[in-house]
Amino acid sequence: MKGIILAGGHGTRLHPITLGMSKQLLPVYDKPLIYYPLSVLMLAGITEIQIISAPDDIENFQRLLGDGAHVGLRLSYAVQTEPRGLAEAFIIGADHVGDDSVALVLGDNIFHGPGFSNLLQRKAEDVDGCVLFGYPVSDPERYGVGEVDGNGRLLSIDEKPERPRSNLAITGLYFYDNEVVDIAKNLTPSARGELEITDINRVYLERGKADLVSLGRGFVWLDAGTHDTLTEAGQYVQILEHRQGVRLACIEEIAWRMGLIDRETCLRLGTQLAKSPYGRYVMEVAAAG
Ligand code: G1P
Repeated sequence: MKGIILAGGHGTRLHPITLGMSKQLLPVYDKPLIYYPLSVLMLAGITEIQIISAPDDIENFQRLLGDGAHVGLRLSYAVQTEPRGLAEAFIIGADHVGDDSVALVLGDNIFHGPGFSNLLQRKAEDVDGCVLFGYPVSDPERYGVGEVDGNGRLLSIDEKPERPRSNLAITGLYFYDNEVVDIAKNLTPSARGELEITDINRVYLERGKADLVSLGRGFVWLDAGTHDTLTEAGQYVQILEHRQGVRLACIEEIAWRMGLIDRETCLRLGTQLAKSPYGRYVMEVAAAG
């Protein structure tokens, strides 16, 4: 399975912060926002990942993550010239996807919960159709909203409905079979002029091939698209890291635990950042084995 991180857009809801910098490079406590969705793909076992961003930002992402080889990844970069919708990611990334299945994660989505890595790896196997991840929220009208029957089967999906049929948001993590590229190419823009991910998901739903995984109430899903949610995400990470002494979305630690790099490499990566607590944590992880 290939991976795509969509880190485009102008971040207008975060102005003026994002006038000079991409949203997905802003700090969420101790690391850039994009580390969180990147770590989700890594935990799913995906190593070939394309980062799609606005033209002005691409160099900054490249400076931050390079070709990914240091953490056992193969990263490539592509440009979305205008924010024409999430579904455009599959048109831009068509060559990258090739004949494989693909996971798309939005660059401002943060996931955290017990057993997540196992769940991801299970769901990433032999995807036939699409796999969506639902999460109950207090403000569903801000999201794609899924309606389910008594057995948890998906009945409908609406994009930012004024009157949501449920409180189940469709989160910004999607697994698709290879059909998604053709489906994306045949979409027409919505009323707001965008190629909607929700329209792709509806095609799968109509074909009876949309699997919904409900992330329960013990799970954490945050998006960092507004001043408040960005701050709250940072606070969540800070509290958890202080309390447990572990770090979330530490890509060097994940690379080491997933067997993508060896202990010496992990230690060296930590040493390069040793003036920061993050770097010292990476060193400790490698030293502990
Ligand atoms: C997008 C999708 C929406 C999804 C959300 C998750 O919304 O269109 O269906 O629920 O991401 O973050 P946007 O962030 O573009 O408003």
